[in-house]
Amino acid sequence: MRKKVGVLVSGRGSNLQALLDACADPAFPAEIVLVISNIPGVFALERAEKAGVATLVIPHKGFPSRDAFDAEMDKALRAAGVDIVCLAGFMRLLSAGFVESWRDRMINIHPALLPSFKGLHTHQRAIEAGVKLHGCTVHLVTPELDDGPILVQAAVPVLATDTEDSLAARVLEQEHQAYPLALRLLAEGRVTVEGNRALIRDA
Ligand code: GRF
Repeated sequence: MRKKVGVLVSGRGSNLQALLDACADPAFPAEIVLVISNIPGVFALERAEKAGVATLVIPHKGFPSRDAFDAEMDKALRAAGVDIVCLAGFMRLLSAGFVESWRDRMINIHPALLPSFKGLHTHQRAIEAGVKLHGCTVHLVTPELDDGPILVQAAVPVLATDTEDSLAARVLEQEHQAYPLALRLLAEGRVTVEGNRALIRDA
């Protein structure tokens, strides 16, 4: 049985596209059954529709609290029979209750080599810090932002000539490889968590 995946998005959805492309292979151990956006009209929704995947817009602005917004997403994910949640450029903080209820079944992609450069503007900060390697991380989501056991990382060189955009583009290419790989590992049941470490069977 392929694992059912719900993807939360807020924007252009290039990582969603990488996941849709991976799931298009019937041999891939997961399929996307629902894409939820908190912002109407974003390109990620078009990508999902084009792939024939159900979409839902839940505008966070219409809810009195974070808990109420998260509860609505939770309801939709469960109604769709979702096993695994992927955050793909989802730009809202999640409540501890929501995160806890999807513990070890929710993953995020972050455009930096965690635990370096949590938060926003990672590429600019990497350039300013003078690091020679930068990259991306797919990790299990825990209540703390950009934290949680790491499943997959990919590194790229930082060149002296890099701008924020050129570095972002180099990292993004790796994101599109790393995210489907991490989803595969989780969907195949190869991940066990020990403290803050994710152990991957037959890595
Ligand atoms: C990516 O850089 C991802 O790492 C970060 O947000 C960006 C989303 O891009 N979390 P996209 O919407 O997947 O194209």
